[in-house]
Amino acid sequence: MASKEVKIKTPIIEMDGDEMTRVIWRLIKDKLIKPHLDVELLYYDLHVRNRDKTDDKVTVDAANAILKYGVGVKCATITPDDERVKEYNLKKAWPSPNGTIRSILDGTVFRKPIVVKNVPPAVRSWKKPIIIGRHAYGDIYKAVDFVVPGAGKAELVYTPESGDKVSLVVHEFKGPGVLLGMHNTNKSIRSFAQACINYAFSEKKDIWFGAKDTISKKYHAKFKEIFQKEVDARKDDLAKAGVTYRYMLIDDAVAQMMKHEGGILWACMNYDGDVESDMVASGFGSLGLMTSVLVSPDGKYEFEAAHGTVKRHYYEHLKGNSTSTNSTASIFAWTGALAKRGEMDGTPEVVEFAKKLEASVIETIESGVMTRDLTRVCEPPTDKYVTTEGFIDSVARNLESKLK
Ligand SMILES: NC(=O)c1ccc[n+]([C@@H]2O[C@H](COP(=O)([O-])OP(=O)(O)OC[C@H]3O[C@@H](n4cnc5c(N)ncnc54)[C@H](O)[C@@H]3O)[C@@H](O)[C@H]2O)c1
Repeated sequence: MASKEVKIKTPIIEMDGDEMTRVIWRLIKDKLIKPHLDVELLYYDLHVRNRDKTDDKVTVDAANAILKYGVGVKCATITPDDERVKEYNLKKAWPSPNGTIRSILDGTVFRKPIVVKNVPPAVRSWKKPIIIGRHAYGDIYKAVDFVVPGAGKAELVYTPESGDKVSLVVHEFKGPGVLLGMHNTNKSIRSFAQACINYAFSEKKDIWFGAKDTISKKYHAKFKEIFQKEVDARKDDLAKAGVTYRYMLIDDAVAQMMKHEGGILWACMNYDGDVESDMVASGFGSLGLMTSVLVSPDGKYEFEAAHGTVKRHYYEHLKGNSTSTNSTASIFAWTGALAKRGEMDGTPEVVEFAKKLEASVIETIESGVMTRDLTRVCEPPTDKYVTTEGFIDSVARNLESKLK
């Protein structure tokens, strides 16, 4: 291809990251992106040392840049714990960059598996990707919990800014036990529903939402009610796009999903999404085949791989040993961002490039060129695998032939 025929109109926010995924990131950029695209990348280095150096300002700046320009692509990053604080000599255990970006964008995370023919899903009926939309705010993740030491009365007390207190008896303990107080807000539930509807609309996928309103007649019922209201508000759009919405009990949703062919968006409450997304990821083969996109209610997008920084491979890489890390999900983070940018800018040639790059990756794997993680789950299983670089080189060759 004559170099750089494809021009991206609007800058894309690029967030670099840590460890093995940082190594992959550079390879993807050098071998698959830069040779073919005329693109302005607004670069934010989210390496843990740079987050430390900037007191995490770089993460906030990156998130604000996504708000301004609309599309970002992010490499996996370390969320430091005490061990990492020592390893990198950090000022403190900075919060998860994903958490920071998510709260600035007020976004919902959608995880989507990449389906390749020679990595059959563990569930026979699954033919198309099942996308999980996880409400990533509140419930047990922002709860207060308490170990009850012995007999006593537990109450739930609400003190309004004006008016009378409301108190409800939770339980009269006769002996020790445990207690949990959790919450959510209408605003957050509404944002979640809107993000799911926007995503389903743009991807033309039907929506399933499951909760347990038969038992939780107020808490879960509020989710059901708000979701339905938001769907009703977009009824005409959804009908035009051929997108349907179904509410069902979460246990029913789980049971039906095991017999479904996929190709739908499964909207989940926070805990359900946490659990079901791992089930779906492993059911479709490998973490290296799972992408993730954060969508804000007003349509800003941040794309990334669903996996972490693949620390173990990085330590091998540092020792000078060869590695076989799967870059598929990271490449799809780039194609997701490019395709979305092309769609927003009205530049079909950019969307076309992203499709060709995705097809190059899938064809590479389907031709039997794969990284080690896939050798155990592919059909037929094999002992043959390529290195991290070898895989990307093979994709690059495939892409070149498509662009000729
Ligand atoms: N989105 C993110 O930025 C994100 C997500 C999860 C974890 N993390 C960070 O990543 C670091 C490592 O965490 P972890 O080890 O729990 O998760 P991880 O996803 O890096 O690895 C989990 C397991 O899956 C394997 N694996 C994951 N991706 C792979 C790939 N592309 N190719 C081959 N094998 C792959 C790893 O070898 C490991 O056995 C931590 O510091 C954590 O904070 C970041």
